Amino acid sequence: MSAAAGTLSGSPGPLPPLHRLESAVHGPPRPTTMPDGSPAWLATRYADARQVLSDHRFGRALLYAPDGPPLPEAPGLVDSPDLMFNQDGAEHLRLRRTLRRAFTPRAVARWRPWIASIVDDLLAVLPARGRPVDVVAEFALPLPVAVISRLMGLDASAHERLRHWSEYAFSDGSRPGEEVRTALAEFTAFGAALLAERRREPGDDLVSSLVRAADEEGGIPEAQLAHLVCGLVAGGHDSTMTMLSNSLLYLLGERPECWPRLAADEEAAGTAAGRLLHLIPLGDDRGSARRAAEEVEVGGVLIPAGAVVLADCGTANRDPEVFSVHRTEDLFAPLEAPTLSFGAGPHYCLGAWLARLELQLALHRLAAEFPGLRLAQPPESVEWRLGSTSRSPVRLLVSW
Ligand code: HEM
Repeated sequence: MSAAAGTLSGSPGPLPPLHRLESAVHGPPRPTTMPDGSPAWLATRYADARQVLSDHRFGRALLYAPDGPPLPEAPGLVDSPDLMFNQDGAEHLRLRRTLRRAFTPRAVARWRPWIASIVDDLLAVLPARGRPVDVVAEFALPLPVAVISRLMGLDASAHERLRHWSEYAFSDGSRPGEEVRTALAEFTAFGAALLAERRREPGDDLVSSLVRAADEEGGIPEAQLAHLVCGLVAGGHDSTMTMLSNSLLYLLGERPECWPRLAADEEAAGTAAGRLLHLIPLGDDRGSARRAAEEVEVGGVLIPAGAVVLADCGTANRDPEVFSVHRTEDLFAPLEAPTLSFGAGPHYCLGAWLARLELQLALHRLAAEFPGLRLAQPPESVEWRLGSTSRSPVRLLVSW
């Protein structure tokens, strides 16, 4: 089991696209089992999932205590106790402070012009690729890789290595343990070397400001900083690539009527991006895991001290008490309440604004440049890339 989440990867038979994944039944927190058979609780209602993610009595670090749930034989980056996501309280805050300013909505808004130009550059070469084109390899993957690389001051020569390491960082457990360990050791050594380089020669990139803030803060273990760099590289592109690919599969496969409006109206594309993020889960997770430090009441149920709880955000995002069901399919209607797709509470996604912006610009400009874009393969023929927290098409052939 991954302590990050209860995953269903490895399920037999063809996998459904993620927008068709069945939600669990809504109700008070109830006992469940993780895929490895260990016991846990499942929170499915919006208010309950939010509480589990926000209440300080539920923690991530506790999952890695010696009496915590078993870890996979070769844990990926997501299960490393050095990762910011796996710290709680003051230690977590100290690390998070070093980055917080870089990711405010205002800061991200300033990046819009160069992100738009990366989108345009990728779209400009698509026609020369010949038809059909794999929109994952040519657009959905290189866009977020180029964005996070530019933010971190890395040039294109690093892209392939970053992608290789990220595949292992989010390994679903099917890769040989030795390979995962080697890839992660290389990845964190890369992170450490990059930190050292920016300490020697600071620039105006994210790693330089991270080093500056960390040195001012003082006392942050170097391993945690190196993991933070790797987490940003991997988390900063894998989830955005996944969202964009899965959104395109849904839009082109089932919602072609939305394409003209996405093309015509950038603001409407932003609303649609928000709703797609809300509607399509990143992967087969049954929820984000936390462990109770003490007995806690959630939704009228007492969760015992030491219990593992899964906040099932995919199901909570469809809670009929909060989100009206008939509007689920109206992509251009604003959400009734904040989505839980970026989590909630102290670990709320630092890249949420960046991810929204990338998705908005990508969908708007792709639709505007290619009004006749269509799938060039049956949706059922999609082959899936399985990660510990995400699932997306290996390739998606399109034509126009
Ligand atoms: C569609 C894209 C994305 C989605 C759906 C997503 C989703 C999430 C979720 C659900 C969490 C919290 C998990 C939990 O509490 O259980 C999270 C945390 C995080 N995300 Fe994202 N993310 C996306 C893109 C990004 C990007 C682009 C970046 C950075 C450039 C990023 C950086 C982070 C970081 C650093 C954390 C950990 C925060 C902490 O532990 O304090 N994410 N993300």
